Amino acid sequence: MNVIEVKHLDYYYRLEEGLVVQDMSFTVQEGEWVTILGPNGSGKSTLSKLIIGLMDAKAGEIYLYGDRVHSGAYDIRQHVGMVFQNPDNQFVGSTVKDDIAFGLENKQLPREVIEQRIQHYASLVGLQQLLDEEPHHLSGGEKQRVAMASVLALETNIIILDEATSMLDPLGRAQVLETIQQLKGMNKTILSITHDISEALLADRVLVIDQGKIIAQGTVADVFAQTTVLQQARLDVLPSMKLHQALVAKGYRNDEVLRQLWQLPFKK
Ligand SMILES: Nc1ncnc2c1ncn2[C@@H]1O[C@H](COP(=O)(O)OP(=O)(O)O)[C@@H](O)[C@H]1O
Ligand SMILES: [Mg+2]
Repeated sequence: MNVIEVKHLDYYYRLEEGLVVQDMSFTVQEGEWVTILGPNGSGKSTLSKLIIGLMDAKAGEIYLYGDRVHSGAYDIRQHVGMVFQNPDNQFVGSTVKDDIAFGLENKQLPREVIEQRIQHYASLVGLQQLLDEEPHHLSGGEKQRVAMASVLALETNIIILDEATSMLDPLGRAQVLETIQQLKGMNKTILSITHDISEALLADRVLVIDQGKIIAQGTVADVFAQTTVLQQARLDVLPSMKLHQALVAKGYRNDEVLRQLWQLPFKK
């Protein structure tokens, strides 16, 4: 089933500055992990805010589980948890623990359930030792993980992560990607947004966007085979992908070897 359906979406902040989201259409299926990949300023954060109904589209429609999304009209947060690009803007608790508890208390869950979820999701993102710290005193990467735990603890079916690994070191990034894989195993629907090509490699599908438009979409294999698309979107191509492209250009066609090449950055 289509969990997310976006149809001919347009958005502008100021009309004279032109469209920052332009005729975007795509669907995301239940249990799928889709990555939206594009350079800075291409409209990724704007798109994610439209999907959660923070603002209304100028044209086109968005549906979540078949229900039309528009600001205020529909209880979107019941379905979607979103980790925003700048975690500083979303802390509400005075400690990490309070912060994770906040959304759960709003849902009026029993105290034991809240406590159990805090422990579970804090340990999933590696925050057990930091539960009594003040969020504002943490490093960028730790803040990002607090934001992530707070969202995961709500156990929504759809999770949107906007540049969730941008402030993390390689280890932290690998941990977050591993967490996303675990979520996928729990049949969550995931939309991860990034300008980093290596993050798209594990997704089921990739949408490449540039200047507000989808310029390619498909499986990781199909999209990354289109060298011109990656150049157009000014994305940094990984050495393993260059090797892959060189092999394909020479007519090499061993799918398993090529797949292994894409996953090279994630091998431990
Ligand atoms: N609140 C805003 N007001 C005006 N322009 C904005 C606002 N937020 C983003 N923009 C502009 O919209 C375009 C897309 O931005 P954004 O969606 O943040 O891109 P990305 O997340 O891909 O970096 C950029 O040109 C940006 O400058
Ligand atoms: Mg952004």
